[in-house]
Amino acid sequence: MNGSTHTQLRDRFGRLHTDLRVSVTDRCNIRCSYCMPLDVTFKPREELLTFEEIARVVAVAAGLGVRSVRLTGGEPLVRRDIDDLVRRLVAIDGIDEVALTTNGILLGQQAAGLAAAGLMRLNVSLDSLSEEVFQEIARSKGLEQVLAGLAEAKRVGFAEIRLNAVSIRGLSEGEIVPLAAFARREGFHLRFIEFMPLDADHRWSEPQVLSGLEVRGLLEGAFGPLLPIDVADPGQPAVDYRYSDVAEGAAGSLVGFIDPVTQPFCDRCDRLRLTADGQFRNCLFSIEEWDVRRLLREGGDNAAIAELMAACVAAKRAAHGIGTPSFERPQRSMYEIGG
Ligand code: 5AD
Ligand code: SF4
Repeated sequence: MNGSTHTQLRDRFGRLHTDLRVSVTDRCNIRCSYCMPLDVTFKPREELLTFEEIARVVAVAAGLGVRSVRLTGGEPLVRRDIDDLVRRLVAIDGIDEVALTTNGILLGQQAAGLAAAGLMRLNVSLDSLSEEVFQEIARSKGLEQVLAGLAEAKRVGFAEIRLNAVSIRGLSEGEIVPLAAFARREGFHLRFIEFMPLDADHRWSEPQVLSGLEVRGLLEGAFGPLLPIDVADPGQPAVDYRYSDVAEGAAGSLVGFIDPVTQPFCDRCDRLRLTADGQFRNCLFSIEEWDVRRLLREGGDNAAIAELMAACVAAKRAAHGIGTPSFERPQRSMYEIGG
């Protein structure tokens, strides 16, 4: 480039990128079958970006128009002192929202610290309320801890806590209505996510995708019609509905669907990703990566980091193409990318 500063991260298809997903570790304290292998080798510590490095990248991204940051993993709460990172990110000029997606296991211990650090949004993954099914999916115990973590998150004052539930045919059908009943009762905003081909075991197949439409049907059978709502943020992938038997605006009155397989939202995607080991990705299904760790560690300046981000955005494809003959699954699985 000619040295001019990039002011925005707009791609070839006109999509503006304002959301950066930052994975802070590939480690996790459970082993969900749709994400991790049972027998996993984690990246050596020195390959992970330090908090200083992450904060530097986020500051550069903010200068390019990124406004929200979501911390993910692996499981972000297994990274030591993650609240320190939250504190740093909240302080960056231009960053309006710092959010975190967790499996909830360590939330009981950490919710208060995260709230004090200024974390604004919390998403907790919860696929089942049955101990048996939880263990079948997560391949370890933990449901009680997650529920205790959710209670603690509520107690310390997190507003609008979201639950994410991955739904898989043959596994999740019986979980959907109980999860929804729980979310309604507890005032959580539940969202169902279609199973994507990012499981480390490469077992994904299209018939296993329990579609958002099917899940909606199960919910309507139990709770009556779901009513479409006005969309506040067209960039968000989820399509939310309101239960017709819950007061409008009440906590727990919304339920949503993220349908990357049956209803791809690539055309309105505003996300970029930074992996724990310092690679930019322009898509969950990106084949290519842009190595910012090398830049950071070899004395690259902020302009060089900005150029790299711009290059990553410029190369973004129109769509992931799941289900088309040209679809190519990325090398990395979910835990090595960040959800
Ligand atoms: N398909 C869909 N969602 C997934 N997640 C992890 N792996 C997959 C997959 N293969 C979800 C987790 C969590 C978020 C980070 O991503 O359940 O909610
Ligand atoms: Fe851990 Fe999240 Fe992957 Fe489950 S989906 S194994 S909680 S990183």
